[in-house]
Amino acid sequence: MRHATTARRRRNGTWLRIAAAVVVGLSLLLLSSGRAADGASGAAACVPAQPKTCTLRQLADQLGIRIGATITSSRLADAAYADLLAKEFNAATPDNELKWYSVQPAPGDWRFTGGDLDLTFGTDHQMAIKGHNLIWAQDRYTPSWVRDLSASDLRDAVAEHIATVVGRYAGRIPRWDVVNEPLKDFGTGPSDSVFHRKLSKRWITKVFELAHQADPDAELWLNEYGTDWVPGKFDALLALVKRLQAQGAPIDGVGLEMHRPLASGPDVGQLVQQMRSIAKLGLKVGLTELDVPIKPGDASGPAAQAKAYGRMVGACLQVSRCREVTMWGIDDGHSWLDNLGIFPTPTRPLLFDEQLAPKPAYNAVRACLARAVLVAQKAKGPLPACAGA
Ligand code: G3I
Repeated sequence: MRHATTARRRRNGTWLRIAAAVVVGLSLLLLSSGRAADGASGAAACVPAQPKTCTLRQLADQLGIRIGATITSSRLADAAYADLLAKEFNAATPDNELKWYSVQPAPGDWRFTGGDLDLTFGTDHQMAIKGHNLIWAQDRYTPSWVRDLSASDLRDAVAEHIATVVGRYAGRIPRWDVVNEPLKDFGTGPSDSVFHRKLSKRWITKVFELAHQADPDAELWLNEYGTDWVPGKFDALLALVKRLQAQGAPIDGVGLEMHRPLASGPDVGQLVQQMRSIAKLGLKVGLTELDVPIKPGDASGPAAQAKAYGRMVGACLQVSRCREVTMWGIDDGHSWLDNLGIFPTPTRPLLFDEQLAPKPAYNAVRACLARAVLVAQKAKGPLPACAGA
């Protein structure tokens, strides 16, 4: 009887081993087919020589750079928006949710819901979320209660704000725009802000030090507008950055926003030179807020816009320390430019139209990224054309 039982157990054991082998084999087959498609995502395979087979994200991942867009928490329930954001971009910048006026509109009134939603989405989709921004050195975007503080209370409020916000996201937000637009919009001097008026001459360095204390692992960047076309502004920015470095500010990178009026399409050579000047200081550089408004009804607008995007992205890809290109929005249905009151609307400044369909500008950016991948691979054969190559 004992033997019979043993034989039956042995037969059962054999069947179990066969079943286990089949399950493992099937799992590996499924996994390998998914991976063969393209990474864990299972997206269609990207062949850079045929840019149409790739998303911006797939190409940027191959280049090891961040291709980003703004993220707006109130739109994340829209599946079409959310899917496009995760499919095409590996990074995102909360449009407004992490700004002081959103996060602490009144003393001690902390509001993190929007920032938390953005970060959760980024984490769920393996996207790097950029903290934007800790201090916006412009009174019109600084809560009035902050502007009304005495110098010593302002120092305390700034320290508390940075410790609270950066501390909350420490280890989860890898990079912060610590100070946004410290220079005048259309000039070369310091922008008019309560921080400049009431704090010490080294207030920007102090703010960077506070952010570093709150999260020593986060990359800390300065972000500025108009340096590619306001006369003398880039030189003023470079001088400021050198001063901050001399003061010992823990600064890692400089963002050039690139909100570009179409008429004066960016000069690629100048932009490359500017980014290289920043890189020479040992810093990273990024193009952080791309949008290019076009005139309604201008038939040549979409093509000119595509060229402008190609020039900006192509310029970044020529500079090894340019590690980020972020679009200031995804689709033409949602751009701050349409509420600015300066440009005739709709300005249609972005890569996707109001129905989230890709525009010539999207194709231009994709071509530049694909070209850069092929150049990096020293691939033979024709390269996709890129206006900024
Ligand atoms: O959410 C409120 C809404 O409840 C209210 O009814 C409405 C009317 O007052 O305002 C809404 O808030 C607006 C917010 O955008 C959300 O749409 C603010 O008024 C408006 O000032 C805010 O504009 C943002 C602007 O920064 C100022 O913060 C834009 O969306 C944002 O794209 C823009 O982005 C900046 C970067 O952060 C820094 N570089 C320049 C860039 C353009 O100004």
